Amino acid sequence: MITIVSTSLREESRSRTAAREVAHLLTRLDQEAIILDMREYELPFCNGGGESTRSFAPLRSSLAVAKGVIFAVPIYNYDVNSVAKNFVELFGDALQGKVVGLIATAGGRRSHMAPLFFLNSLMLDFRSVIAPRYLYLDEEIESEDETRERLENFTCDFLDLATAVSGNSSYSREILASKVGEVNRSNPILAG
Ligand SMILES: Cc1cc2nc3c(=O)[nH]c(=O)nc-3n(C[C@H](O)[C@H](O)[C@H](O)COP(=O)(O)O)c2cc1C
Repeated sequence: MITIVSTSLREESRSRTAAREVAHLLTRLDQEAIILDMREYELPFCNGGGESTRSFAPLRSSLAVAKGVIFAVPIYNYDVNSVAKNFVELFGDALQGKVVGLIATAGGRRSHMAPLFFLNSLMLDFRSVIAPRYLYLDEEIESEDETRERLENFTCDFLDLATAVSGNSSYSREILASKVGEVNRSNPILAG
């Protein structure tokens, strides 16, 4: 299953429309896709304590069971909107090791790199695997064909990566130790 978190609170949101389109394409590719629309949740602001999210267990489990999570966000002030940031502050731990993709809508082309800090923070904090192609839809794109091509490329690349990463392989230091025998504790970097 792929879980899409739609963070725009705007009635006529373009990122929500794009999220629905991607969900539709995923379904065509025989993937279950659900959209968590943040307009339907009254999420508290993160206050640093875990108790504020206790009543959102179903939302958390929609993240836990997903083989990939996509954020659909509007760009505000050269960043993802604060709903997206707050969502990660509340539920980021559920993104541990997950493949994460991004759909961003913006007014212009110049904010194209704006989501990178958000994505990098997921990589560093939760070891999320960031899909290298994200879908950026600004208001300057005029061609329907171009929009469709971007939607389709994003969906296929994301699903490819999520499917590959959610395979069964699992390596750990314990497995490594069983293969190479006694681990040499000397510092190989300083030793030379
Ligand atoms: C408060 C605010 C800040 C914005 N800041 C930016 C910005 O920095 N860069 C940009 O390209 N567009 C900016 N926009 C335009 C929105 O990204 C654009 O309207 C987008 O379509 C909103 O997504 P939505 O339709 O899903 O709500 C801003 C809009 C608002 C309301």
